[in-house]
Amino acid sequence: MRTLGVVGGGVIGLAVAWRAAVDGWSVTLLDPAVATGASWVAGGMLAPLSEGWPGEERVLEFGAAALARWPGFAARLEAATGAGVFVADETMTVALDAADAADLRTVADWVGAGGHELRILDRAGVRALEPSLARTVRAALLAPTEPAIDNRLLVTALRRAAEAAGVVVRAEDVASLAELPYDQIVLAAGAASARLWPELPVRPVKGEILRLRQRSGAPPAPRRVVRARVHGRPVYLVPRPDGIVVGATQYEAGFDTAVTVAGVRDLIADAEAVFPGIGEYELLEASAGSRPGSPDNLPLIGRLSERIIVAAGHGRNGMLTVPLTVDAVAGLLADTPLPEAEVADPQRFSITVGGTR
Ligand code: GLY
Repeated sequence: MRTLGVVGGGVIGLAVAWRAAVDGWSVTLLDPAVATGASWVAGGMLAPLSEGWPGEERVLEFGAAALARWPGFAARLEAATGAGVFVADETMTVALDAADAADLRTVADWVGAGGHELRILDRAGVRALEPSLARTVRAALLAPTEPAIDNRLLVTALRRAAEAAGVVVRAEDVASLAELPYDQIVLAAGAASARLWPELPVRPVKGEILRLRQRSGAPPAPRRVVRARVHGRPVYLVPRPDGIVVGATQYEAGFDTAVTVAGVRDLIADAEAVFPGIGEYELLEASAGSRPGSPDNLPLIGRLSERIIVAAGHGRNGMLTVPLTVDAVAGLLADTPLPEAEVADPQRFSITVGGTR
């Protein structure tokens, strides 16, 4: 049996390891602290259409192709583990002023022209679907095909599925890929991937996020993912069975994952502008992670050498793009590259490929 080492135990590494084991590889996953990084901190939005913007065709197409694979991927995970990971079925982006409303129409027209379903709602339409949102919400963009998942359920289930399929998880740091003894290696170390392959243009992008629990008597959380821009800052609310996840700040701050007072203040203020009932909720957790940013907001999935494949740089879309990444890496391992993943080829950054390191 051919051996595969997966470096990195976030959502990408776990999912790739699971799939490779199912495909017949003898898989070892190496990470000193599996599922504790950005994948644990995340919110779980799957919103490539709502986040579409004219000029970003490749990001939209890649995200939409990933979204289309989610139902099948989630069904396989549920069959393997019993875990259902979806927490919402739809995404609603709300407008608080005329400029936001105009932007929503731009997104609806541009993304809709590609055949994707999006609907503009007026004030009454918003109220009918999400009565607990602020009266100042004047319009919204509804994406009926954009669900959300619970990222913590997901990574927990992926680890279970991977181990059940035979993946050996080793709590080890990797200092050099060259020293690993496997036939093939997948580098999926998120924001830290460039430490092991310095040419990779992957950098940490800090994000802070809050987890809130609904207290008795507090207004119920929105049933959909709610996105908005408040004072020029993006904010999103992702439902959970017992509350809401509110995200996320975005800074270039190296590998700093300290939660700042200003970050928490802004997230609460911006979320409250959209959902006034939030003040009644319990603040359960504030955390921060390092998203693996890339220069063009597309991941890097492809061969770095005869032995090494990279799957990193997923930025704000790690959860969304898991199913497509898994299929792309499986394709590379089987020498049948996936056409939909060609845009993620790291060679677009002219990275030196070759050798056996
Ligand atoms: N997935 C949204 C974020 O990274 O903030």
